[in-house]
Amino acid sequence: MSTQTSDYKRITTKTVLAMKQKGEKIAMLTAYDYTTAHLLDESGIDIILVGDSVANVFQGLETTIPVTIDEIIYHTKVVRRAVKRAMLVADMPFMSYQVDIKEAVRNCGRMLKESGAEAVKMEGGKRILPLIEQLVDIGIPVMGHLGLTPQSIYKFGTYEVRAKESEEAKQLVEDAKMLDKAGVFGIVLEKIPDSLAAKVTKAVSCVTIGIGAGSGCDGQVLVTNDMLGMNEQFRPRFVRQYANLSEVMRTAFRSYITDVKAAKFPLKKESY
Ligand code: KIV
Repeated sequence: MSTQTSDYKRITTKTVLAMKQKGEKIAMLTAYDYTTAHLLDESGIDIILVGDSVANVFQGLETTIPVTIDEIIYHTKVVRRAVKRAMLVADMPFMSYQVDIKEAVRNCGRMLKESGAEAVKMEGGKRILPLIEQLVDIGIPVMGHLGLTPQSIYKFGTYEVRAKESEEAKQLVEDAKMLDKAGVFGIVLEKIPDSLAAKVTKAVSCVTIGIGAGSGCDGQVLVTNDMLGMNEQFRPRFVRQYANLSEVMRTAFRSYITDVKAAKFPLKKESY
């Protein structure tokens, strides 16, 4: 049997856990297409998530509820082709892991086998512990997701900050500890007070990745389209805008249209 050698070092669950130990922050962003994934990987991102946020930023849907497992597999396969170094995590969509354990295990296995993801992410606490234990036992790395869990939007009724009240905060810490004990390698903490996220980070051995959860987490994640400023309608305060791509793209599109209409494109040097 021969083993392949490569000149890059892949990020694994082991790598990110070691980063927590060393106090080195973990950078994670989303991708849904080959070109973006290639640029992210080349730039040195640690974790790429094919999130069910594909619903909002790619499919133009209001919630993540309608996303299917086949859609996440499709986008993850596309992203997989570009990713050489980062760890690739795929979101398990709503109702792909909630019905019963057998079906959930099969779906998570399908995700790894068919998409090339190296880990799955799923929302929820205590309820999904038996599933997490089975997955980890089989060898499927799991990332949890607590706080604002968008697949429960109809239960919450709002995308406001979660766990501001002590009862919910206490439950969240308990859930995080249980997920950690069940063997998740990481937990996304979405839109919760920074003091609570810092408390969770200290209480668990797995890595915490915050989004709108302050600087006390082991790492941070943002939806790539949001941090690039591609959506002018969605600019919450937790999204730092690193570019204003909507403006850059609009300017480019208008210039192209103007040039075509004025017969200024293509020039001789752009022709054969
Ligand atoms: O779907 C997604 O992009 C996510 C991140 C916001 C963490 O779950």
